[in-house]
Amino acid sequence: MKIDVTKKLPDKMDTIVLLLGDKTKGSGAFEHLPAEYAENVDAFIEEGNFDFKYNTIKTLHHVCHKGGARIILCGLGDRHNLTVDRFRNLIASCIRAAIQIKSKEVFLFFPYAMPFSDTALGHVITEGCLLACYRFQKYQSDSPAPTPVAVHAVLDNKNTRHLNHGILEGRIYAEMTLLARDLVNEPANVMTPETLAEAAKQAALDYGFGIDIIMPDRIRRMKMDAFLAVGRGSASEPRLIIMRYRGNPEKKSSIGLVGKGLTFDSGGYCIKQPQGMLNMKNDMGGAAAVIGTMAAIARLNLKVNVVAIIAACENMISGSSYRPGDIIRSMAGKTIEVINTDAEGRLTLIDAVHYIIEREHASKVIDIATLTGAAMAALGPGISAVFTNDEEWMKKLREASEISGERIWQLPVHEEYREMLRSDVADLKNVGGPLAGAITAALFIREFVEGKPWIHIDIAGTAWRDKENGLYSIGATGVGVRLLISLFKLME
Ligand code: BES
Ligand code: MG
Ligand code: ZN
Repeated sequence: MKIDVTKKLPDKMDTIVLLLGDKTKGSGAFEHLPAEYAENVDAFIEEGNFDFKYNTIKTLHHVCHKGGARIILCGLGDRHNLTVDRFRNLIASCIRAAIQIKSKEVFLFFPYAMPFSDTALGHVITEGCLLACYRFQKYQSDSPAPTPVAVHAVLDNKNTRHLNHGILEGRIYAEMTLLARDLVNEPANVMTPETLAEAAKQAALDYGFGIDIIMPDRIRRMKMDAFLAVGRGSASEPRLIIMRYRGNPEKKSSIGLVGKGLTFDSGGYCIKQPQGMLNMKNDMGGAAAVIGTMAAIARLNLKVNVVAIIAACENMISGSSYRPGDIIRSMAGKTIEVINTDAEGRLTLIDAVHYIIEREHASKVIDIATLTGAAMAALGPGISAVFTNDEEWMKKLREASEISGERIWQLPVHEEYREMLRSDVADLKNVGGPLAGAITAALFIREFVEGKPWIHIDIAGTAWRDKENGLYSIGATGVGVRLLISLFKLME
């Protein structure tokens, strides 16, 4: 999809989107609109047909004459409540309305100067358009539903440099989010640990970051037995994927980024119910976010050093699977009693976290994982749960959340719950019991960060949507990519 800024309007327009603010009622909004349209829309509004409330959308078909442009009216609501995030969602709604009437080309009109920078404006328009148009249609034989081929923002800026810069940047954020969505939406029969590693390698080639794929033999030699235990029941062997990007060579240290990469989670011998198992191809949502983020920071040339890791495997049932009651030794040396084979993510994560600190010398660690049903139950599909041992760093993440619009809510890493993980036979249990499941999972990972600054993002609820709305279509959301890019940008 082409997205640009334009002043000149063609004689014939396919679709016009009119953003309408509360205070702009009528004509003032239409300075650049051809008179015939302005008059007709004005009349329509004067008759009280439009309420200007945020996210009110009304489509008018051929208001002037047959063959004339279709007009989508969209309420901006009170100007003072208009944040970049609300604006981005609004653009997404407009584009959805345009898709519905099969628009090919859309002209976006603004009622007044938007209350944010030109760069931000270009950025969020682009994200709103590209994210709303996504659909995973690869496996459907019918020709894909058409989406607009071009969106023009009608603005009479003399200098379009900042707008264009924002558009360019927004395209990278959005496209790499869509890359993550594509990876997650691939079914587990296609997206095996090996395919995931290949996809990471392709991204490294396409966008320019370093990659190392470590094969099972070497994983075994490194004694990543917690990781290996989880993957042991699958016919598809595990892969350890290491990605490196050094945008600031003067600085020695790197930030460690860890993504949960279960290409499928059946639960293992503690098998899931069919309903709960259905979407478990999304259990590599953290890994996908990590790959998308690495690709994006390389494309953006951010001045940060990041080393990323994915312990990719599949949690299946077979004669070689791990069992409840097994005691396994993690790479760090701590032993773990397996209470529940469905609490597998944390086992893969702790070896990955240990590796990245021990072998890659990461100075801080951020992990992102579809880790607990408890996080999903607590915060639903719109908010990711976050945990930390470093409040200063968390402030930055909060800022990144506001910029990106990817919502987070911090839960406490409550010290007193640590004893829920105590085992009678090993150093730790892999499950803390029925209560505070998201917190005890975070506590479990914290045991392996060796006091380094650490943030944990639980995206179990947010990695997947059952309904399409705004920026999200049904299926993978690509959540984490825009949040993490924004975080790294703040850490430049
Ligand atoms: N992958 C799941 C968590 C999950 C649930 C992700 C729903 C996305 C949607 C994870 O491996 C899991 O099974 N967690 C268990 C842990 C429990 C056994 C302690 C859970 O949350 O039920
Ligand atoms: Mg599980
Ligand atoms: Zn899982």
